Amino acid sequence: PDGSLSRAAASGSALARERRELKLKHLKEEKERKLREKSGKLQDDIKITIENDDSQVAEEEIGSDEWKLNQKQKNVSFGKRTSMSMKEQRESLPVFKMRDELLRAIHENQFIVIVGETGSGKTTQLTQYLNEDGFARDGIIACTQPRRVAATSVAKRVSEEMGVKLGEEVGYTVRFDDKTSPRTQIKYMTDGMLQREAIKDPDMSQYSVVMLDEAHERTIATDILFALLKKAASRRPDLKIIATSATLNAKKFSTYFNDCPVVNIPGRTFQVEKLFSSQPVMDYLLASLDAIMKIHLEEPKGDILVFLTGQEEIETSIQVLEEKIKNFGDTIPELIILPVYSALPSEMQSRIFEPTPKGSRKVILATNIAETSLTIDGIYYVIDPGFAKINAYDAKLGMDSLVVRPISQAQANQRAGRAGRTGPGKCFRLYTELAFKNEMLPNTIPEIQRQNLSNTILMLKAIGINDLLNFEFMDPPSKESIMLSLNDLYFLGAVDQDSRITKIGRNLVNIPADPTISKTLIESIHYRCSDEMITVFAMVSTPNIFHRPKKEQELADKKKARFTHPHGDHLTYLNIYNAWVNNGYSKTWCEDNFIQERSLKRARDIRNQLLQIFKRVKYPILSCGADTNAVRKALCSGFFKNIAKRDREGSYKTLAEGTVVYIHPSSSIRSSPQYVLYNSILNTTKEYLVHVTIIEPHWLVEVSPDFFEINGKQTEAKKQSEKINPLFNRFNRDQNHWRLSKPFHSTK
Ligand code: CDP
Ligand code: MG
Repeated sequence: PDGSLSRAAASGSALARERRELKLKHLKEEKERKLREKSGKLQDDIKITIENDDSQVAEEEIGSDEWKLNQKQKNVSFGKRTSMSMKEQRESLPVFKMRDELLRAIHENQFIVIVGETGSGKTTQLTQYLNEDGFARDGIIACTQPRRVAATSVAKRVSEEMGVKLGEEVGYTVRFDDKTSPRTQIKYMTDGMLQREAIKDPDMSQYSVVMLDEAHERTIATDILFALLKKAASRRPDLKIIATSATLNAKKFSTYFNDCPVVNIPGRTFQVEKLFSSQPVMDYLLASLDAIMKIHLEEPKGDILVFLTGQEEIETSIQVLEEKIKNFGDTIPELIILPVYSALPSEMQSRIFEPTPKGSRKVILATNIAETSLTIDGIYYVIDPGFAKINAYDAKLGMDSLVVRPISQAQANQRAGRAGRTGPGKCFRLYTELAFKNEMLPNTIPEIQRQNLSNTILMLKAIGINDLLNFEFMDPPSKESIMLSLNDLYFLGAVDQDSRITKIGRNLVNIPADPTISKTLIESIHYRCSDEMITVFAMVSTPNIFHRPKKEQELADKKKARFTHPHGDHLTYLNIYNAWVNNGYSKTWCEDNFIQERSLKRARDIRNQLLQIFKRVKYPILSCGADTNAVRKALCSGFFKNIAKRDREGSYKTLAEGTVVYIHPSSSIRSSPQYVLYNSILNTTKEYLVHVTIIEPHWLVEVSPDFFEINGKQTEAKKQSEKINPLFNRFNRDQNHWRLSKPFHSTK
């Protein structure tokens, strides 16, 4: 029931509790004293704050305690304000009523699970309560997020609530972007970053509390952190672990953490009417757009949230929607159309949180990022086509790829719930009730059971966890998927035949990227092109380099063609980046060439981060100059598994799995070379190779003689290329080849 606290045995002795209570009392007294002391000088500050109502300047100069007082004063002097003050907003959140109970439960238990609807204040408030309660004295309060957007946007919000500068007391750490300082007390971070930190510091000694937020999302990193933190907690009785979930199946988490208490935050949700489609929907994109228009024209006020599967879909829909709206002219109320997806620049993201102006309606087109990790107020209508793009291992391709799949019933209910935060809402489901019942799984399959685990396994091995069989997975991955990942790691040279981490493997872990990319970066040193390779991967990791406005597509393509390298996309990216550098990082140069300056800046940040990492671990930065073949060879040393051979007219076949694939139309390759290397495969209407480079097949044997062999010794040079066979399957056929220290098949 709501608000109940199912309590297991309270941990800690009476003595310890007494000590804690004393410490708390002392802290509280000190705080009050400080407040009293400073309230004298406050009068002056208030003026500044009121004059600069929107500016943070005055607030930044004074501490958070004063800021709170300031807020109170502000409310008094303004009397009735149309919008709530920050303090009022904070105190109106459902979690506020539970503040004391939550803090008590955290003091009394090492592990605790907190369940609360999205928007109840878990992510933004709990860390602040812990900070106010003195937890930051013994270490940083960490809060992990499955998504980087959530980590950065929430950190920003909390720094505003506390009236401090982002990156000081409140900061965030996501891959290739660290906004923390030695003063940081509350740190939002991606679960992946905390997992990486465990390699160097398995005890998590920097932290006093770790909050595993959004645990219901069951990302691999959060799942792994569950186990790593449980271990760390057994060595550190002072470490507190909190797992939060927006859904009710929290029992599993509690069971995992030795039957720890589960605290429910009573929801403040309204009824949501769920409307199913009467017939199967053929084109959910069209149906979504129709639904938006119908709501806008027929339904009372309230904003709309639409769940789409990806950036491209969102952008196309926005274009179509804008056209439709234009045709209506002034005859209908304004419709503000906003996108949300993870690659969206942060200044655009913050727009979705701004209140909707009177007389208009907001429609937000979002990926499933808006399912639980972002809270948007004022949503009365949800449109749910029932799909999401997920990353899953595809046996046909021999790698993870992004695919659009039906969501689970749990996700569908979560999505519907987003309409009931501000008042009774409606959810338009673009699928039939029958499909909901028969075609959707009750719960989402955890990532760990559907993705390639190379990265995770290598990380665990680097921490010293070799015995994967006895590792405490919440839901263990299948033996096959562990085997596949071990194979991949073996061919990369990261583990030996006994599946122990090698020196190469340890080197790979130094770089925060997939093992294939790390291997390529490290091997590029041998080919004397680490400088170029760092640029290449900084560019490949950056979405939206090109700007292709509908009206100027031809011109944009023409401009792009001038940077095209005949050998493919990786070298084309290198050309573009270098041209930008040679033009003094010029903004006008970007505009002239239809290149997104923002993206190049991001690539530059990533490049700088990689350069720093190289410097720290003493890897040399070498340039190959004009000899760009070095770059292509080095690419082969990591991506030898991702090779496709020309098949028929325009089509290719992957070497390892023999799957028919096509070069993506956006690739700069216009010829049809015999052998190509690719970074990834995009699964849309066809299976498309993305980021493609032409290679010479004999390089493959050079870089990975274990994986490729040349059949027959007397082959003619020109026929040689056809005689290269992947050996990958050898390991599938003969699994005994693996002499694992703990054979996976022997138990369970
Ligand atoms: O974590 P949970 O879903 O329980 O809630 P939260 O993210 O802490 O959000 C609490 C409130 O803070 C919501 O009502 C949001 O409106 C607000 N918020 C915001 O204005 N801007 C953000 N970036 C995050 C939250
Ligand atoms: Mg949250």
